[in-house]
Amino acid sequence: MSTAALKPRPTTEDDITAEVLRRFDNTQDPRLKQIMQSLVTHVHAFLKDVQLQEHEWWKGIDFLTKTGHMCDDKRQEFILLSDTLGISMVTDLISNRKPAGATESTVFGPFHRAGAPEKEYGADIVAKDNAGTMAYCFGRVLDMNGKPIAGAALDVWQAAADGLYDVQDTTLENMNMRGIFHTDKDGRYLVKTTRPVPYQIPFDGPVGQMLTATNRHPWRPAHVHFVVSAPGYQKVTTHVFDSIDKYLDGDAVFGVKNSLIAEFKMHDTKDDIARQFGAEPPFVTCEFDFVLAPE
Ligand SMILES: [Fe+2]
Repeated sequence: MSTAALKPRPTTEDDITAEVLRRFDNTQDPRLKQIMQSLVTHVHAFLKDVQLQEHEWWKGIDFLTKTGHMCDDKRQEFILLSDTLGISMVTDLISNRKPAGATESTVFGPFHRAGAPEKEYGADIVAKDNAGTMAYCFGRVLDMNGKPIAGAALDVWQAAADGLYDVQDTTLENMNMRGIFHTDKDGRYLVKTTRPVPYQIPFDGPVGQMLTATNRHPWRPAHVHFVVSAPGYQKVTTHVFDSIDKYLDGDAVFGVKNSLIAEFKMHDTKDDIARQFGAEPPFVTCEFDFVLAPE
């Protein structure tokens, strides 16, 4: 067959990019079309920018395959990858723009579990003794006008004093360091726990290898996770960070916001707070008010 009979076909890198984009032209869902065409545009630009070689792409495929194989009902390596690449935080910032004055959100992280036990006001989330300093997290859930919200739900979870979540440590009881609390009639909550500690994100998988290969550390500053919700208000997924933590400026997953940093105050004597909470010194307290924006 002579070449004159052949139709023109894409031959350059840019021709291929244009052709791939064209194949998505008939996507019915306009948002899906926008996302797929933008994804192709940016990924192809990346390939051309770094002049990606085949052996490097095979390494990438292998990395993503291992990331998938690492995932099960207790380990979510893709969330870790998203977190360590800052994808989670950028998506959070785009998705959860709150009016000024409302509590800011931050990363959800890979350690939340559905079905945490319901807890009474002031109950303990430490299902098994650990070496941590006792801590009392308390405060109010308020609306944008400062009015208390009664019956707001606070889903709380935290690493134990050894820096591990229950899903990482099989010696811990199920649902250790987790609980769902509700505010009282004055919008108050009180959670008994241990002082949070800085911890390393799971480091024994492909994400850990990526951090090592790029000379990055895996530490997160000490924090307590909260999802705070109430009917008629926007839910907020957030953390409260310990103000003295040395990793506040280098969080491996970029989750720190100034408005979420709070003091964990030491109590060495049987003071008024100790009597009020029935606490034995030494212990720490952290007061933090959550402000919910209307739906
Ligand atoms: Fe965490």
